[in-house]
Amino acid sequence: MAYSVPKLEDYSPASVDKAVHELLSAVKEESLAISGEASWKEFRDRWMARKNGILTQVNDLWLKAAPGPAKRDVGSRVNQLKTEVEQAVDAAQQRMTASASIGRLDSEHLDVTLPGIRRPLGAEHPMLRTMNEIVNVFRAMGYSVADGPEIETDYLNFEALNFPPNHPARDTQDTIFVAGQEKKPQRDRLLLRTHTSPVQIRAMQATPPPIRIVVPGKVHRADTADATHSPIFHQVEGLAVDTNITFSDLKGTLDHAMKALFGSSVKTRFYPSFFPFTEPSADVQVTCFKCGGKGCRLCKMSGWIELLGCGMVDPNVFKFVESNGYDSRKVSGFAFGMGVERIAMLKYGIDDIQLFFQGDVRFLGQFV
Ligand code: PHE
Repeated sequence: MAYSVPKLEDYSPASVDKAVHELLSAVKEESLAISGEASWKEFRDRWMARKNGILTQVNDLWLKAAPGPAKRDVGSRVNQLKTEVEQAVDAAQQRMTASASIGRLDSEHLDVTLPGIRRPLGAEHPMLRTMNEIVNVFRAMGYSVADGPEIETDYLNFEALNFPPNHPARDTQDTIFVAGQEKKPQRDRLLLRTHTSPVQIRAMQATPPPIRIVVPGKVHRADTADATHSPIFHQVEGLAVDTNITFSDLKGTLDHAMKALFGSSVKTRFYPSFFPFTEPSADVQVTCFKCGGKGCRLCKMSGWIELLGCGMVDPNVFKFVESNGYDSRKVSGFAFGMGVERIAMLKYGIDDIQLFFQGDVRFLGQFV
């Protein structure tokens, strides 16, 4: 919008007014077109710059050039023009900052009614979920929950459970020992517990009979990993000691637990077995929940699936805690232990135990 200052035809009040009017309508029109800081500055400078701004030009071309008698009159009209131009520039600036702050309000606008950002929640790991389920079945029957350390002494993991030193039953447990303990007596040597059974002894050392506990926990064996073996896995142990506990209490308790875990239609059977710390000992088998007992690949055509070990607490075990009230002439009890991953695999149809330890969300996500 480049225009020059209109030339005055003469210095009469009428022609000065006409020219002033022309400039005022130009400044008005221009001020309406301002769209931001940069265009406002340009506008201001075009009109008000000391050097060559329109007001300066007006001063030079109209006032300075006016003949003596007209000077006074031209001067007051030029001053009036100057005031109005300054007001227009100021007003344009105010409009600009006002609309800029509306723009800022717009861009920083916050809608407090929008839904928040959802953080995806994790899900319980299928092993833990199964472990909690097992524990809860026994809690409902009045058992309390106990635990013990994963680094255990030879005494508690083996000796007090009636595995004598050098007894061949120790070999079946593929024990991982802590190195550099040759100077210690064997009973004090540390190892990674091979089962949760040492917590039976810890609990009986701490609490006189009667006792009813379940012990969920992690155990370690020097097993090579394959689809059904893992050097780390989990067990839930159980122990009940009181007066007059019999094998039928054991059968009734575990039959109920298996029905609670696998459905009321499963049947159980107690198959003779051996553990140094129980006598008699049994493996508990349940009817195959895949084929219902007819025989399939899961149960290797037998119709039965082996789920856990159990038995009546061996009187030799009570001898190690006799001083805390466990006199085998007065009390009796049963114990059981089950592998959590194995139960979860059968429950959910998982065919590789390694999946529990790999943290693959494609696997874990199926249990949400
Ligand atoms: N501790 C035994 C195992 O790990 C299982 C078991 C526990 C057997 C309690 C009988 C009684 O194989």
